[in-house]
Amino acid sequence: MKFILFLLRLVFCFLSTLLFVIPIFILFYPIFTASHFIIPYAIYPFDICVTAPVAWKYIKIAYCIFCIWSCFLLSNSIYCLVFKDKIVLKDLKSSVLKKDCGLSLYLGKDFKTNLPVYLNESSLYQNILITGTIGTGKTSSSMYPFTKQFIEYPDKLGMLILDVKGNFYKQVKVYAEEFGRLDDLYVIELGGDVKYNPLDKPNLKPSVLANRLKTILTLFSPNNSESYWLDKAEEVLAECIKLCRLYNDGYVTFLEIHKLVSSPNYYYEKISKLRQLFQSRKV
Ligand SMILES: Nc1ncnc2c1ncn2[C@@H]1O[C@H](COP(=O)(O)OP(=O)(O)OP(=O)(O)O)[C@@H](O)[C@H]1O
Ligand SMILES: [Mg+2]
Repeated sequence: MKFILFLLRLVFCFLSTLLFVIPIFILFYPIFTASHFIIPYAIYPFDICVTAPVAWKYIKIAYCIFCIWSCFLLSNSIYCLVFKDKIVLKDLKSSVLKKDCGLSLYLGKDFKTNLPVYLNESSLYQNILITGTIGTGKTSSSMYPFTKQFIEYPDKLGMLILDVKGNFYKQVKVYAEEFGRLDDLYVIELGGDVKYNPLDKPNLKPSVLANRLKTILTLFSPNNSESYWLDKAEEVLAECIKLCRLYNDGYVTFLEIHKLVSSPNYYYEKISKLRQLFQSRKV
């Protein structure tokens, strides 16, 4: 494409140079071919064709080169002035119309050119920031149409949507229904059918899990300034996780931790069970 544009530009400059040069040469033809040309040099006029024929010849050659070069530059300037904007626009058009080149996200129309703008696949692996004050349309003008495009994509993209406000999933459900992907939609919510256990991390050390829990608990707790008790809570949580892993096949749940912490009978029951297992060398 660039090479064709370059050729077009060259042809244009060549033709318009000819257009400028021909009249100039016609105008100066009698001087170029004259056998006598008097230079009125003050009180010593002289015929340059006779007195300095070689210098005259080079002056004519230099003039021709200068004239052709000036006309070429002029043609190039005219080309830039007349066509450059249109060519840039065409270039832009071809660079943003990436709909057919695999995965891409339609963002909207360019404010100045009114041309569609797409994010290509590699850009989608980066982060996107949508900013605006409350109620300016971030969700309705960006998140909804973007999500719709991803759900619509024929290759069935997987998505994890963190719906902080708890209302986004309703629209996602509408799109999933529209594009026949309702079976792929899992809504994880309190009291919902699908459950997610953030404590089921068998590869994480109990102390790391306990530290995460402590961080979450401090966010919810109004009195979290007593670091002694916070550290103690973290230690208790770590021990409960260890214990739970031992008697529950490595599977830890909030419910088990809650029972261990809040019910002494449950705790002793589990301890005695573990003792038996330990004595029978099953643990
Ligand atoms: N261009 C628009 N023209 C008319 N109404 C709009 C436009 N953009 C958004 N709205 C309406 O404004 C309301 C708020 O929009 P939206 O929820 O998308 O904003 P938001 O930026 O996501 O807000 P928040 O910061 O609270 O999340 C919605 O009812 C939406 O329909
Ligand atoms: Mg919003």
